[in-house]
Amino acid sequence: MIDILDRVRNKELQSKIVTAEEAAAFFKEGMNVATSGFTASAYPKAIPLALAERMKKEPFTINLWTGASTGPELDEALAKVHGIKKRLPYQTDKDLRNEINDGSVDYLDLHLSESAQLSRCGYLGKVDVAVVEACAITEEGNIIPTTSLGNAASYVQSADTVIVEVNTSQPLELEGMHDVYIPMDPPNRLPIPIVKATDRVGTPYIPCTPDKIKYIVPCDIPDHTRPLKAIDEDSRKMSQFTLDFLKKEVEAGRMPKNLLPLQSGVGNVANAVMAGFVDSDLKDLTVYTEVIQDGMLDLIDAGKLLIASGTAFSPSPEGMARFYKDVAKYKKYLLLRPEEISNSPEVVHRLGVIAMNTAIEVDIYGNVNSTHITGTKMMNGIGGSGDFARNAYLTIFYTPSIAKGGKISAVVPMCSHIDHTEHDVDIIITEQGIADLRGKAPRERALEIINNCAHPDYRPILLDYFERATEATHHANTPHILEEALSFHERFVANGSMMKD
Ligand code: COA
Repeated sequence: MIDILDRVRNKELQSKIVTAEEAAAFFKEGMNVATSGFTASAYPKAIPLALAERMKKEPFTINLWTGASTGPELDEALAKVHGIKKRLPYQTDKDLRNEINDGSVDYLDLHLSESAQLSRCGYLGKVDVAVVEACAITEEGNIIPTTSLGNAASYVQSADTVIVEVNTSQPLELEGMHDVYIPMDPPNRLPIPIVKATDRVGTPYIPCTPDKIKYIVPCDIPDHTRPLKAIDEDSRKMSQFTLDFLKKEVEAGRMPKNLLPLQSGVGNVANAVMAGFVDSDLKDLTVYTEVIQDGMLDLIDAGKLLIASGTAFSPSPEGMARFYKDVAKYKKYLLLRPEEISNSPEVVHRLGVIAMNTAIEVDIYGNVNSTHITGTKMMNGIGGSGDFARNAYLTIFYTPSIAKGGKISAVVPMCSHIDHTEHDVDIIITEQGIADLRGKAPRERALEIINNCAHPDYRPILLDYFERATEATHHANTPHILEEALSFHERFVANGSMMKD
């Protein structure tokens, strides 16, 4: 109790401290509940667990708006009791994914940079309650965030009612790691004054007033971050292709020796690519990204990083332990911003970010599917990949050339769903090689992708398709045989494999 009283610095607010169960009694059917949280970082935990318990006894549903994916105490707990009606803007939870794909949950898969603005526009209804995790609350009622910012600041701004979960497992030294800037909405929006990844343009807290805060709930459940998988051979190869490519770009004078600010997606390949930077002779690197993971801590330890700016700090449990041991050291290099700013098209374009994200599949012309398996089943969502891909100086997509032991080719004639069009994609990298699509017309791109990136087992049938499509369309700009364009996916659905017999 002493710890929570120390953390709620406004004495009058201390009278609003209640249990998670008491706070959970506030929620009602159909409410728009907007929470903090981005990846398994800084999402409320005690309140959703208590809410899920309540929903078990008296079933009802809420609409859940977050920053992105969250941890199991929120998405999984509520999905398991069928407590979510509508969800936005991104998720990665298995139970929730199943509910999205069986029609029980309506899912709005949004560009993360736009999600705060969309929530402010009003057509989704208003924020009925904002539930945010905090490290502490200041005398003025301002909220000191924890390991991510996501959309928390915008949700607090929009809400009349705010419930704060003060997480005593989060170190107080996190204070000062945040830079909160909420743009005004059009027609009053001004340029976001960030010209370098290091620039601070806002406040170190989420602005709030004591009268908005309805309840304060103590919580000591730590972030449920995920362990890192060991880097596999394919990811290592993709990392090496990236480093070789970037070295040539520097030699060609297209970027400075310390590159341009890096953005790196999440998952295996992203980890391998960051590990490659650690082992390289590159230095003075800057990162303007969404999620900060273990690789950034490695870069700091290796003395190669000037700054990592993001919206979430989401390392593995080992990475988190390393960070907690020496917050003062790492904090100098890490800066957390609202996702509206970390992913801002305006800032990404100005800084000239190098965007590195993973695809589910790519087609022979360079279109990218990041979200839907066989065009229908939602995997996770577009997340920030579109924010960065469209606006970056250089846009790279990665994918292993095959999935499911070779039954799936990640290079297909036509993507079954398109998140990033050929116009946004500069480079595709698989463990087979690298396709540089810059300055190439569609038919040139097709040969570059098939020959350099497709798995050798699939190369002949992809080339055969391309040649027949070229012939059939009399060398059209983008040759396709429409009735065959999705034949790889049809074969997979019918026979469990994209390979021809
Ligand atoms: N067809 C069907 N299944 C496929 C597939 C394809 N073309 N490609 C991959 N899969 C399956 C894999 O077999 C694996 O299945 P499993 O979980 O049953 O083993 C699963 O999809 C995930 O594949 P994996 O290679 O482990 O992917 P990952 O963890 O690197 O994630 C994305 C890849 C695309 C799903 C993920 O990066 C994502 O959600 N991206 C969109 C959001 C984004 O880019 N965020 C970062 C922006 S800042």
